[in-house]
Amino acid sequence: MIAPKPKSRPDRVSLWRYMQLFRRDILSAQPERLYRAWMAEFRTPFFRSYLANDPALVRTILNDRPADFPKSNRIGEGLRPLLGNSVFLTNGATWEKQRRIIDPAFERGRLAQSLPAMWDAGQAMVARVLDQIGTGTEVEIEEITSHAAADVIFRTLFSIPIEDDTASAVFHEFRRYQRAQPILNLAAFVPLPKWVPRFHASDTKASARRIRTLITDLTRRRMTEIDAGTAPDDLATRIMTTRDPETGDAFTIDEMVDQVAIFFLAGHETSASALAWALYLCAAAPKWQSAITQEAGELHSAKDAKRLTTSRDVFRETLRLYPPVPMMVREATKPETFRKRAIPKAAQLVLSPWHLHRHTRMWDDPDVFDPSRWQMPESKQSIRDAYMPFSTGPRVCPGSGFAMAEGPLLLSMLLRAVELAPIDGKTPEPVAHLTVRARDGIWLHASPRRAQATDGSG
Ligand code: HEM
Repeated sequence: MIAPKPKSRPDRVSLWRYMQLFRRDILSAQPERLYRAWMAEFRTPFFRSYLANDPALVRTILNDRPADFPKSNRIGEGLRPLLGNSVFLTNGATWEKQRRIIDPAFERGRLAQSLPAMWDAGQAMVARVLDQIGTGTEVEIEEITSHAAADVIFRTLFSIPIEDDTASAVFHEFRRYQRAQPILNLAAFVPLPKWVPRFHASDTKASARRIRTLITDLTRRRMTEIDAGTAPDDLATRIMTTRDPETGDAFTIDEMVDQVAIFFLAGHETSASALAWALYLCAAAPKWQSAITQEAGELHSAKDAKRLTTSRDVFRETLRLYPPVPMMVREATKPETFRKRAIPKAAQLVLSPWHLHRHTRMWDDPDVFDPSRWQMPESKQSIRDAYMPFSTGPRVCPGSGFAMAEGPLLLSMLLRAVELAPIDGKTPEPVAHLTVRARDGIWLHASPRRAQATDGSG
């Protein structure tokens, strides 16, 4: 099955046309030739940017010399009112310290402690969906997965379900914030002079302020519980009680609020996007839907999650075709020579899971949804050189293990309870918002499976 692509993949376009396309949608602006290029240059009147698809270049920038290619400030501009000085935006010594405190909470052994909360969120999602669909109806899947992924984050981070008043207020405010946000990576490509108002529209700022007030309240309450010895053992407690092994410092309340904002944003937007596309792909490929359903018969508690190998392959293949973070941007701190081309200082370097994962010289049938490729020895090199949905190197996503536990678990839990089918004339078209979403949502027909498979006993 060929996975749906963005509408236009123009081959030769003028810079002006490219900019226009970008404003409409970053993914459909990508010319066909970039899916076979090792490197490409975009000259703008204000700066240069380069797309790096060559695996050796990607390694240089992300793995071998990451300090020479810090995160570009252009990306942070739109997110700073919400994320403050969070680990997603910082560079250098501040970033290193933040990762030293955060990373231990996501280590493999400790991750297992988050599984029961993920399981509870999965059960709640299934109950909500069954309630919504009755005997069968059309549903918008992104809405469902956003709700479920937000629930996972609140339960794992603060031990509260999405129905909690504060959790629900944060969730709804985030949705408003997202709607007010234009395309995340725009500023890295399109030459907007500094004086052009971009991201900080007043409603975005006000929304960010409201979210931060709510999160501050949650964090303060947690600090009181930690001091009183009554705090639950969840991600927030683990992070707030970890001290930097080098300086002995723990996060202050303000520092923790910044991190909570990024955990919520990075952790729920991305997982919701991936799960929605996975469900769409399973609806469109019934063979894989029934393979997952069968495998899920063995799923009796969160501990069984590690047995979901088919579900994991489907989820990996989904992350290949629809990487939630389609592109990342770094900045050259000094002149470089890449593939015999001179790269000036301050050039913007675009690392693109979107292009790499569909690169015609690195994958067989790149646009085809085929989870079986994950078990084939001949895929090894493509996976090593051209697969990075979580980025790579020291700045790799700290939540990758968490997401790879959550995604397949929720996918299996939903599919064993609900049968999905595509709707004629409603093929979703991917577009880049904060993550890769469908232009008009993902609409599927959903009907309940046999009653005994959905009794939710676990
Ligand atoms: C399918 C789900 C996810 C995907 C595809 C994903 C992908 C990514 C990518 C590509 C980056 C690097 C961005 C860049 O360098 O510009 C990143 C960073 C990050 N992610 Fe994730 N992520 C996912 C889930 C999560 C979860 C569940 C959490 C936390 C609970 C999380 C927390 C973070 C944080 C804190 C960073 C910033 C790390 C840093 O800059 O040092 N992510 N993620």
